[in-house]
Amino acid sequence: MSSNLASKLRVGTKKAHTMAENVGFVKCFLKGVVEKNSYRKLVANLYFVYTAMEEEMEKLSHHPIVSQINFKELYRGRSLEQDLAYYYGSNWREQIQLSPAGAAYVQRIREIAATQPELLIAHSYTRYLGDLSGGQILRNIAVTGMNLTDGNGTAFYEFADIPDEKAFKNQYRQTLDELPIDDAMADRIVDEANAAFGMNMKMFQELEGNLIKAIGQMLFNSLTRRRTRGSTEGELATAE
Ligand code: HEM
Repeated sequence: MSSNLASKLRVGTKKAHTMAENVGFVKCFLKGVVEKNSYRKLVANLYFVYTAMEEEMEKLSHHPIVSQINFKELYRGRSLEQDLAYYYGSNWREQIQLSPAGAAYVQRIREIAATQPELLIAHSYTRYLGDLSGGQILRNIAVTGMNLTDGNGTAFYEFADIPDEKAFKNQYRQTLDELPIDDAMADRIVDEANAAFGMNMKMFQELEGNLIKAIGQMLFNSLTRRRTRGSTEGELATAE
């Protein structure tokens, strides 16, 4: 019997999805305003989040329900390591830090893995199905916005072991539907997915401050450069 979990998740998180799309940092990203320092902080946070999620899924690889949704071809830990080495250099491990919102997200993943492991399904859904859905568009924006070349800094968006993302998403949804769970559990998973959207939004909101500062600094630099150039021109004109 189908749990209809896939459509319950889709319908149940629709509002949260729209809200996430409207966070300033995400909107700026979609418009091509991508600042490298803010972006690499996001990559660092995502690294901690995915590592926690993937480590916990591995530990639960014999769990009757969680194990069914543990698709290794989705794992992002290794690809995020490659991107971090590009953005921070070879000593990236010593440089990256977890932000407060990232820390709360990681803590929640660890906590549910220990106490209510089925809720990990919500975290897997929120991140991986989103990555499979928007991946190529976001990749192209990152490439153009940060002038990336030769595939550097975008390993996160490449699913080397998934040749057909659409077909894979259907397989993932079918697996969700076939999980042996009751309605009460399905509802709890939907609630947790909404919470996971909220945790992602908080991580993006933290970066908004950084982005605004960076844009302000760029504006300030360009204005002062123009003014300096203007005043030199004025001096030259007076001298003539
Ligand atoms: C940058 C802004 C975003 C855009 C433009 C975007 C776009 C999309 C699109 C077009 C789909 C539909 C794919 C389909 O019908 O198969 C989708 C699905 C999805 N997105 Fe996003 N998205 C964004 C942000 C996010 C964020 C921040 C998250 C969560 C962290 C997320 C999670 C998801 C999930 C879980 C799905 C699968 C929905 C389902 O079919 O059940 N998205 N997204």
